[in-house]
Amino acid sequence: MDIAIITGASSGLGREFLYQANKWINVDEVWVISRNEKDLKELELISSFKLRIIPLDLSKEFSLKKLKELIDSKKPNIKLLINSAGYGKMGEEEKIDLEDDLGMINLNDKALVAITRYSLPYMKEKSTIIQIASRAAYQPLPYMATYAASKAFVLRYSEALAVELKPRKIRVLAVTPSYVKTKWIDRANSKENDKLNNFGKFFEAKDVVKKAYHDAYKTKKLISALGFRVRFTRFLMRFIPDKLAMKIYLSLSAKKNKK
Ligand SMILES: NC(=O)c1ccc[n+]([C@@H]2O[C@H](COP(=O)([O-])OP(=O)(O)OC[C@H]3O[C@@H](n4cnc5c(N)ncnc54)[C@H](OP(=O)(O)O)[C@@H]3O)[C@@H](O)[C@H]2O)c1
Repeated sequence: MDIAIITGASSGLGREFLYQANKWINVDEVWVISRNEKDLKELELISSFKLRIIPLDLSKEFSLKKLKELIDSKKPNIKLLINSAGYGKMGEEEKIDLEDDLGMINLNDKALVAITRYSLPYMKEKSTIIQIASRAAYQPLPYMATYAASKAFVLRYSEALAVELKPRKIRVLAVTPSYVKTKWIDRANSKENDKLNNFGKFFEAKDVVKKAYHDAYKTKKLISALGFRVRFTRFLMRFIPDKLAMKIYLSLSAKKNKK
């Protein structure tokens, strides 16, 4: 049985990856994962694929174990894995609830590695892994410290994996979006957080996903980056020290806050 797995499929980028999937893949089932079962069931309205609804909280160890058991029992041929489940929290590090802080590492990093590892034994040549990192991955970000660090992990991990898996002809692509119009921002932005509202332009999920699929299937890029500012950040970070990058970031945020 040929399948695709999409985590975080019920909303935002994950949902859009499912919506656009029929242009790129031909599989028997798409396994869709997030916490809310009702939201997952509603995906049947937007997808022509047969869906396997898998409601799991991927930040929890027992959920990861359940997913591994399911994959091992069905032994599918995984043609596409998209790790999109993730969240961020903005604000002063000490004011962020510790559980939320550690949860970001559990979901954005630990679950992503675990699901990638569970999938790899069931991936053949020409399979694809798309990992959702963030523009935040390119530099340390004060007032988003854990989130940015968690996404730097995703970026580095994915780039290295892409090289390791080349002999097996498995594609790995990291996607580094800037702000996208999804529910992400509602979970990320605390009311007391006045240090950051430097959101700038919000991209549409459909455009980020369209480019990610194109980059995954039509190019050999390691990273999919939509928008000049994202590409400029990536370029600039090769030449300036982290300390200066953070200074620039905070001064741009302060200017925007004054407006
Ligand atoms: N939107 C942006 O500005 C932006 C920018 C750069 C990178 N990103 C990254 O893009 C990815 C997708 O985010 P999005 O913008 O699409 O946000 P979103 O609309 O909030 O979608 C997040 C998805 O992850 C699922 N999810 C959250 N916690 C989960 C958990 N513990 N276990 C399983 N599933 C969970 C959510 O469903 P449930 O709540 O039902 O679990 C939802 O399906 C994330 O990794 C995010 O960090 C977003």
